[in-house]
Amino acid sequence: MHSKHSRLDRFIAKSCQIPLKSVKPLLARGVITVNGVPVNDGQWRVCEFDRIECQGTMLQHRSPLYLLLHKPVGVVCATRDKQHTTVLDLIDHPAKDELHIVGRLDLNTSGLVLLTNDGRWSRRLTAPESKVPKRYQVRVKDPLDDRYVQAFAEGMYFETENIVTAPVALTITSATTADLVLTEGKYHQIKRMFGRFRNPVLALHRSAVGSYELDDSLAPGEFRLLEVPRDGRHSR
Ligand code: URA
Repeated sequence: MHSKHSRLDRFIAKSCQIPLKSVKPLLARGVITVNGVPVNDGQWRVCEFDRIECQGTMLQHRSPLYLLLHKPVGVVCATRDKQHTTVLDLIDHPAKDELHIVGRLDLNTSGLVLLTNDGRWSRRLTAPESKVPKRYQVRVKDPLDDRYVQAFAEGMYFETENIVTAPVALTITSATTADLVLTEGKYHQIKRMFGRFRNPVLALHRSAVGSYELDDSLAPGEFRLLEVPRDGRHSR
């Protein structure tokens, strides 16, 4: 059973399937421990990664897990798919079934994908107000020029969502390639933005999300575990 930030007494009642009032004597006897320390206060807030025991029985023991994957083209950002290999199929870890994807990439986009079982961490990274920068490299069919730089910086109106996109920093790196930094993630955003110029995206790669970068050490399809400092995941 997973808790986010529930009260200890409610957590115990629910996981032991006993009435709330029966939890008090257990708390008083000091047989309930959180991370190995007896807790008497039923209102103590527990999170999904606290180790909770009652009379020596483990009720919750779950470690936070953070992964950085190099997604190849043709692999789908889903946990299950009938047709394509999924990002989870590429992961060999005993707790992989707990993972969810932090910000998806399209099937034909390659690059950095983060996965975790820590909902607070992923919410923080994907919340629109966090404006976490995401860096991409793009190759398009037709030559680029300053009109693109200006239009991306000004923002574009997307009728479906009735929004104007946040400024996108576009740096042209050759006639048909560019680096971009997005601070939001609308559906097919980059392809739709180049679509305004009727310029098809031929290749798209994500190289960074916030401070997480994809370096040459990870081949397509490989992943590594991330060390996320406690402050970086929970600000209680
Ligand atoms: N924009 C797109 O169009 N596709 C992606 O995968 C990511 C951003």
